[in-house]
Parts: sequence; C-alpha cells; structure tokens
Amino acid sequence: MTRSRAPSSRILGSGSALPKRIVTNAEMATMVDTSDEWIVERTGIRQRYIAGEDETTSTLAIQAALAALDDAGLTPDDIDLIVLATATPDNTFPATATKVQNALGCNGGIAFDVAAVCSGFLYALTTADSLLTTGMAKRALVIGAETFSRILDWEDRTTCVLFGDGAGAIVLESPATSTSVEKDGQKDARGILASRLHADGAQHDLLYVDGGPSTTQTVGHLRMRGPEVFKHAVVNLSNVLKEVIEEAGVSADQIDWIVPHQANKRILDATARKLKIAPERVVVTVDRHANTSAASVPLAFDTARKDGRIKKGDLVLMEAMGGGFTWGASLIRI
Ligand code: ACO
Repeated sequence: MTRSRAPSSRILGSGSALPKRIVTNAEMATMVDTSDEWIVERTGIRQRYIAGEDETTSTLAIQAALAALDDAGLTPDDIDLIVLATATPDNTFPATATKVQNALGCNGGIAFDVAAVCSGFLYALTTADSLLTTGMAKRALVIGAETFSRILDWEDRTTCVLFGDGAGAIVLESPATSTSVEKDGQKDARGILASRLHADGAQHDLLYVDGGPSTTQTVGHLRMRGPEVFKHAVVNLSNVLKEVIEEAGVSADQIDWIVPHQANKRILDATARKLKIAPERVVVTVDRHANTSAASVPLAFDTARKDGRIKKGDLVLMEAMGGGFTWGASLIRI
C-alpha cells in the first residue's frame, strides 16, 4: 500500500503512559537463567515497565490519549476517530478503541483496533491518515497500547526478557480541517509526506502467539525465532525506509530524526548504518522501555518531543516491523 502527497494529516500533539512498576534486568535474572550483561550486550535493554493488576491496555491507552489531547490543547469533543493498534486487547471484542472512546466521553465517532503487532502504530497512522484525507473524520487519536507481559512465557528466557508494557498516542488532524498547513505542492509542508506498508504472511512461524479464540480458545504465549527475525528486520526496514525517502523526494541527510520500533539496539544501529544515517539521529528508548510492540514508536516519539529533541518543522522518519511479518514507515514533517 502506498500513500504519498503533500500536505497530509498533521500531528497536533503526543502523549504516553507507562505502568508503575519497573523490572530491571537484575530482577529478570531472579526469574530465568539470564544476566544483565547478556541482555544489555544482545539487545541494549536495561529495564522494562510491567503492568500491575489494576493496569490494562485500555487504562494505559486512555492515559496516553488524555496526555496527547492535553499536549494538543484539545478536548475529547474534538475527536471523531480513534484508531488503536494493539496485539493485546482488553477483550477479544469489542475493540479496545471503543473502551477508550467511552472513557474519554466522545462516543459517536469511529473507533476500531488495528492488529499488525509491532508495526501496528504505522498501520494505524496510515489508516487514520487515509480516513482523514478522504473526509471521513476531522481529528483522530492514533494510539499504540500493549500489555505484552500478559502473553509472555515467563519461563522462556529467549523471549520474556525482551518485552515491556506501555502506550503512546498522537492527535492527527485532517488537511481540510487544519488552518495552518501549507497548501499542495510545498515539499516542506507540515504533515505526513509519505507512507508505505507491507506484509509477508509466509513468515508467520518466525513470530506468533500459540493461542487464540478460534484455534485453542486460550490467549497463548509469544513464540519467536529471534535470530531469523533479526535478519529479516534489518533487510525489510532498510528497504521500506529507502522507499519512503524516495517517494517523498528527500535525501537521507535531510532527515532530522528516525523514530524506529524499539526491538533491539543492534537492529536500530544496523538499519541506520545501512542508510548511512548518523546514530545520534536515531531515537533510542529500548534501554528503558524494552520492546513495547505497537506502543514503542509513539512512546519513543513522545519521549523525544518532550525532552526537546524533536521540534516543530523537523523531518521525522518512523518505522517498524513485527509479527506477520508486517512492516512499514512514514515520513512526517512535524
Ligand atoms: N539470557 C542468556 N542467554 C540467552 C538468553 C537470555 N535471555 N536468551 C537466549 N540465550 C542464549 C541462547 O540460548 C544461545 O545459547 P547457545 O549459544 O548456548 O545456544 C545464545 O544465548 C545466543 O542466542 P541467540 O538467539 O543466537 O542470540 P541473538 O544474539 O540472536 O539474540 C535476540 C537474540 C535478542 C532475540 C535477537 O535475535 C533479536 O533481537 N531478534 C529480533 C527480535 C525482533 O526484532 N523482534 C521484532 C519484532 S517483535 C514483534 O513483532 C512482537
């Protein structure tokens, strides 16, 4: 799927939420046969946030959504579309997005979930952008929220050390609604400049959950053949990044920030190297958050906005790959 034109929907604000409890690598080493040294060297992860009994995907999503609205200076009444990316919904149905809608008190608009695992936020962003651009809605909350701790096999050291819980959200406004977006044809207009999404269902068995309502009637546990996923990730991500850069007609050295899916620091470094992008321009939060699947890109984006790195006018490249495989990227003028 390809989406490319300028200007497009633009980001008005962002927010994020993390569970209260931090679990360090040292604590992980008390649960499975692992060590801080192994985890840091192989992944860059130092800690992760794990949801407590009172925290779910929807509670984290609601907090992140409220923070994004506050950041944008808007209220729930301004929102008529909620797209929530998650692989760990509160219930099989209804969509967690409808729970968020009800909690915010903006019922009546469109609300649905998107399941594309770690690239879910890119799929949600592109879907929301399409609906906004066609006039189906005016302003969207695009949320990535996960409680992967609930689908981990806590006895499998090859996967349980890698993931964490959290949520991130952005407010996206349609080009027609916006009063300050520059008009068509301006390369540096603010908004989404290009997006690309891909999937390859042949790779199902490299990364999946071994349960579900229609197969086992259980929630199941995450299973991953890490080294194989790693190899695919570097190739697929560098290809999709080249596609969006080319499509938007910019060069890699014009990009201010890459906000990648935070799976593994070595994947981030290898992808940046392939594109000849300086490591200082890659936003890294995997050390603090671990892999939060669909939440990782908006969490990293919000972190870098709030600490002053990403500023208005910056050219930002978001990218992710996840189970399916699914992968995608968006180039955005903030
Ligand atoms: N602690 C200590 N040792 C471990 C651990 C652990 N937690 N996990 C595995 N090991 C051991 C293995 O058993 C193996 O031991 P052996 O040599 O005696 O057999 C050794 O460490 C090396 O294992 P590898 O799996 O080869 O390690 P690798 O360097 O490939 O790192 C990792 C594994 C971190 C999973 C890496 O392959 C990776 O990050 N893969 C990509 C994951 C990813 O990108 N996911 C993205 C999508 S996620 C989503 O969509 C939900």
